[in-house]
Amino acid sequence: MKKILASILASAMMLSLAACGGSAPAESSSAAPAAPAAPAASSEAPAGGDAAPAGGGKVGVSMPTQSLQRWNQDGSNMKAELEAAGYEVDLQYAGDNDIPTQVSQLENMISNGCEALVVAAIDGSSLTEVLKGAKDAGIPVISYDRLIMNSDAISYYATFDNYKVGTFQGNFIKDALDLDNAEGPFNIELVTGSPDDNNVNFFFGGAMDVLKPYMDSGKLVVLSGQTEKAQCATPNWSAEESQKRMENLITSNGYGPEGTKLDAVLCSNDSTSYGVQNALTAAGYTAENMPVITGQDCDKPNVKNIVAGLQDMSVFKDTRTLASQVVKMVDAVMQGTEPEINDTETYDNGTGIIPSYLCDPVICTVDNYKELLIDSGYYTEADVA
Ligand code: GAL
Repeated sequence: MKKILASILASAMMLSLAACGGSAPAESSSAAPAAPAAPAASSEAPAGGDAAPAGGGKVGVSMPTQSLQRWNQDGSNMKAELEAAGYEVDLQYAGDNDIPTQVSQLENMISNGCEALVVAAIDGSSLTEVLKGAKDAGIPVISYDRLIMNSDAISYYATFDNYKVGTFQGNFIKDALDLDNAEGPFNIELVTGSPDDNNVNFFFGGAMDVLKPYMDSGKLVVLSGQTEKAQCATPNWSAEESQKRMENLITSNGYGPEGTKLDAVLCSNDSTSYGVQNALTAAGYTAENMPVITGQDCDKPNVKNIVAGLQDMSVFKDTRTLASQVVKMVDAVMQGTEPEINDTETYDNGTGIIPSYLCDPVICTVDNYKELLIDSGYYTEADVA
């Protein structure tokens, strides 16, 4: 019976993905791509089967903020896919990265009958206490995108391959500056994300694994001297904060189109990258002389800037793929079966390794953004025009 239900769910999800990929997303001010269509047609169900997909029960989905585009997409994709799979969904956003709000929303989910929780933490280390309540109540918790630390209540983790994201960014800079052949030296500054986000260790760590040898040999120079993760961090991944820091770096190191040459800025994601680009354009940089700048998430304003020549790359993490994977995980834990896992080594949250599923990130540039983002139905042309 479980196998039949699983196969119905799988075909329902394929249908919903196909529907998503095949049609243009609805225009929406929330900046979210089209939610997957509900699985249609009982005629698609195997003979003798029940048209309703597997599922049933309430699932709490806790997201960190609505202020960044990606979490809106994650939230709406998760809700649509879980509902399509037959679940009731309690979706909550924790204000603008407000930790006490996230804690109290989780408390409510636990006491209001949620049978599984999907949580993207604001601060990976601040949920230990509240999740004890989930464990005591026998509610499985899936850590979404960001690993929740120091909690033995976490059953599984689903994310993108975060280390790969970091190496993509580092290698992009390495190739763009042709570090193995060009004489240099080249000036670079480093900008990463929120210090309370475990992903930063992988984004920054992955990029530094590529770039550090060139810094050690003197081919890459960080004039500010700010090379430690803590020095390069951006609280809450805030574009305003990264802009302020870049403004300070410009002033204190004399960077500018007419001043000291700045060849590259490593930025761990699009919001921090956007702030950096604002500071640089305010200092007179244009598409013609912008340093090489990285990003991650393919947020709409950043894709526009990629097209405009102000940002060189982003990393596309298709939130539809992550949502589908997590819905499969939820379904497995709700039915007491083992979900699909492809990593049992990388993510130790302090209580042991959390079995994980890592989705594949893809580099996005001006050369492939149409294929990746528009042909796949993630955005419309107008979204990024
Ligand atoms: C990270 C996430 C990135 C980015 C960032 C800021 O945890 O993996 O995709 O969105 O948060 O929200």
